Formats: sequence, C-alpha cells, structure tokens
Amino acid sequence: MDVGGRAHGPLASDAKLEHESLTATPGDAPSATSKSMDALVIQGGRPLSGRVAVSGAKNSALPVMAATLLASGQHVLRNVPSLADTRTMARVLGQLGARIEFSDHVCRIDTTDVSSFEAPYDLVRTMRASIYVLGPLLARFGAARVSLPGGCAWGPRPVNLHFEGLDAMGARLEIEHGYIVGKDVRLRGAHVRHETVSVGATAQLMMAATLAEGTTVIEGAAIEPDITVLGEVLVRCGARIEGLGSRIITVHGVKSLSPIDTTIIPDRIEAATFLAAAAITGGSVTVDQCDPEHLRASIETLERAGCDVHAGEREVRISGPVRPAALSVTTEPYPGFPTDMQAQIMALCTIADGESVITDTIYLDRFTHVPELARLGAEIRLDHNVATVLGVDRLSGAPVMATDIRASAALVLAALVAEGETRISRIYHLDRGYEALDQKLVDLGASVRRVKE
Ligand code: EPU
Repeated sequence: MDVGGRAHGPLASDAKLEHESLTATPGDAPSATSKSMDALVIQGGRPLSGRVAVSGAKNSALPVMAATLLASGQHVLRNVPSLADTRTMARVLGQLGARIEFSDHVCRIDTTDVSSFEAPYDLVRTMRASIYVLGPLLARFGAARVSLPGGCAWGPRPVNLHFEGLDAMGARLEIEHGYIVGKDVRLRGAHVRHETVSVGATAQLMMAATLAEGTTVIEGAAIEPDITVLGEVLVRCGARIEGLGSRIITVHGVKSLSPIDTTIIPDRIEAATFLAAAAITGGSVTVDQCDPEHLRASIETLERAGCDVHAGEREVRISGPVRPAALSVTTEPYPGFPTDMQAQIMALCTIADGESVITDTIYLDRFTHVPELARLGAEIRLDHNVATVLGVDRLSGAPVMATDIRASAALVLAALVAEGETRISRIYHLDRGYEALDQKLVDLGASVRRVKE
C-alpha cells in the first residue's frame, strides 16, 4: 500500500480514496465518489454524558513529523492521530523519499533515503502545514522546492515570516513558478524578530536553526505547547535550544541530530471542543487523557459561561449549565484563548442568556461559520473581526455546510442542541482535524450518523 513516494502500512490503505478528499481546495467540493462527500446527520437535544479519550494533537504531530527530516535514520512517533492531515504530511515525507509505516497511532518514519527535496502543490494546497518541511530540508540538505500554500477559506494566511526568517539565515530563497526554491544553501545563525507571534514560523526557524552554523535568536517566539514540545523533542535528539516556553528562543546549531523517539501530546483543541460540547448540551462529561494545564483559557471561559469544571491530573470533568451565560471572548496567542476554539465558543454563545461579544485578533476573517450558524437560528452580527451574538432560546435543525476544521466543529456543537435534524455536509474538513469525532460523540450519547451524500 503506497502513500505518495514510499509510505507503507495501514496509513496507506485508503490512500487513493483519501487523496481525492485531500486535493480539494478549502471550500471546494471534491469528487462525488470519494469518502470526502460524507455528511453528518445529527438529531439534537440529547445532553452528553460519559467519558471520552482525547487523541494526539494534530498541531504537535505535524511539525514533529516534518522534523524527522533533520536526522537520518528510523524515527518513532507514538500517539499520532489518524487524520487526513497527518496522512497528508506522511505523503509529503513519502514524496521526499522517506519510508513510512503508520499503524495503531504509531508512525515510523525512516529518513535514511530522502533524496528529493520537492513538496508539490497538490499536497501543500490541501494542508498549509506541509510548508514545515522547508526549514528541515534546507538545514539538512541545503536544497528545497516547496509549493507556496496559497490562500485559505478564511483569509490570506501569509508565510512571509517563514520566508524572511530563513532568508536572514542565508537561505536566499526565490519564488519560481509558485514554489519557494532554495539551492546550495548553508544556513547560518541569525537574529530574527517577529512582531506577530507565529506558531508556524517559530517552529520553522527553530527546526532550521538546529543544524545551522552558529546561534539563532527568535524574538517574539510562539509559546504554544506544540512549539515548546517540538523544542524539547529536538533537544532530546541533541539540539541545543534555550528559552523554550519564553518569547525569546535561542538555538545553537549542532552538526547532526539523532532520530526522534517521542509520544505526541494530547490535542488541547479536541479536548476543549468536547468540553464545549458538554456545555452546550447541558451534559456531564469527563474528558480523559488530556493535559488540563494546556486547557486553562478554555476552562476559565467555560466557567464564566456557568459550567462546573474540575481538572484532575490527566482529565477534566465538566457539567454544563441549564443555560450558558453570555461571554466576552478575545482570541490571543497562547496562553490566551485560542483562535482554534473561537467558532466552537461562538456556537455555545448562540444559546446563551444575553449578548456575547467574540473578537478574533489572530485571524480577522475566520468567521465562515457565522452564516451557517444563522441557518440554525443563531443571531449574529459581524463587524470586521468582532461578532456580537444575541443568545436565542433555541436553535432549530437545518442543512448546513462545513467550511473549515473548526467551523465544522462549531456546526456539530450547534447541531447537538438544535431541535430536530441537522445535516452537515462537506465534513471532510472535520476529518482533517478530529479523529472519529462522530463515534466519540455517539459514545457520549449523541445521535450522530455519517451518511454518503
Ligand atoms: N502570520 C503572518 N506571517 C506569517 C505567518 C503568520 O503574518 O508568515 C500571521 C497570521 O496571518 C496570523 C498570525 O500570524 O494572523 C498567527 O499565525 P500562525 O503562523 O501562528 O498560524 P499557523 O502556524 O499557520 C497554526 C495552527 C492553526 C492555528 C494557528 C494559530 C498548525 C498546523 N496550525 O497555524 O491551526 O489556528 O497556528 O494558533 O499548527 C487548526 O488547527 O484548525 C488551525 C488552523
């Protein structure tokens, strides 16, 4: 079974099928024959109850998978979520010549024979995080040809910070025919300052700097757990990195790294999405195998909405209120409230008692869920990046369309509480970022069916 170039194992079992679903640009409908055309049919009105286990974090797994390019040999990544996006990253690595086996959430990546340096448009356009291979390729091989990702369903999402940072490290990158191209590159340390905190650019430059000549300083670095953990993984492989978890990260380049052997951290956004699902249905749920420390902002927000929340060492118990209180929420870089939970918290606010105000300062256009929530009866006024949500007494089921990963999750949440049936189409977006969300919700007592469209 083949995934791209050299991938093997169960990961590849539905490679052809998945490939169809993954080559759609955001918002486009892929081939009608593919699994990607599945829809979810949800009967609302059942409070969730029980225990749910969180999968490995997509946004941690993706850069760690890319980081395997930094060292030759056999890497082992455990607790890798089985998602369209992790399969896409596997395909990108396979395309470069890595051998990949993916079975039971263990991903083995052999980078001994990497011999191509090209990440093609067809893969990169389906998942922007493919660009993570750029820094590692330049650092280890001095060459890369990586497609520019292009726009996204909810805005331009530039990669200038990746580009400028690598250029400051001597990469002399060019744009050729839609590709970022680096040739005969010898990276050297540089002082890079980010005015905007960027998760991706911090990961990109940190990975590149591990094998660069001299010292790199990244000022204005991201401190999301995904970044800190990536740094810790690299340190265990021999990288010299200081300041992880702070806004200034210093990387002293080393000659080589040893292969990665690690376990991917729990997905804080998936965990928070389940907490919000319990909250919106007035249910009682224990979210298991998570890291409550990473969920602070979401927990605090749900408490303000009237939820009763108890955090243990590896689990969070939540009981939702009869009716949530209205909220004022502003997204910020970690440890602030995550933009990846903005849509889901908006779903909660649609039935809150009073007027909520939700501001996204990270992605000013990330509001494609607003008109779909309105189809369920939500009353939302959007003014630039500020949504004012007037809580209604009830939502009512309707056909709606998923537009991106988190917007889809918001529609699922709203559907769980809406009266009657909601049909959510284009759920291939959901499958990019949530492992078996439909089954996990069924296990919590929801009425959710996956159907072919
Ligand atoms: N930005 C720039 N220039 C750049 C890079 C970013 O101006 O070169 C800006 C962005 O436009 C945005 C801000 O910086 O306003 C933050 O973007 P960031 O680079 O942090 O986003 P990202 O690395 O592309 C990751 C997650 C996203 C998540 C954001 C913000 C991954 C694979 N993706 O994206 O996750 O929303 O950080 O936390 O880690 C998702 O999982 O659904 C998702 C979209």
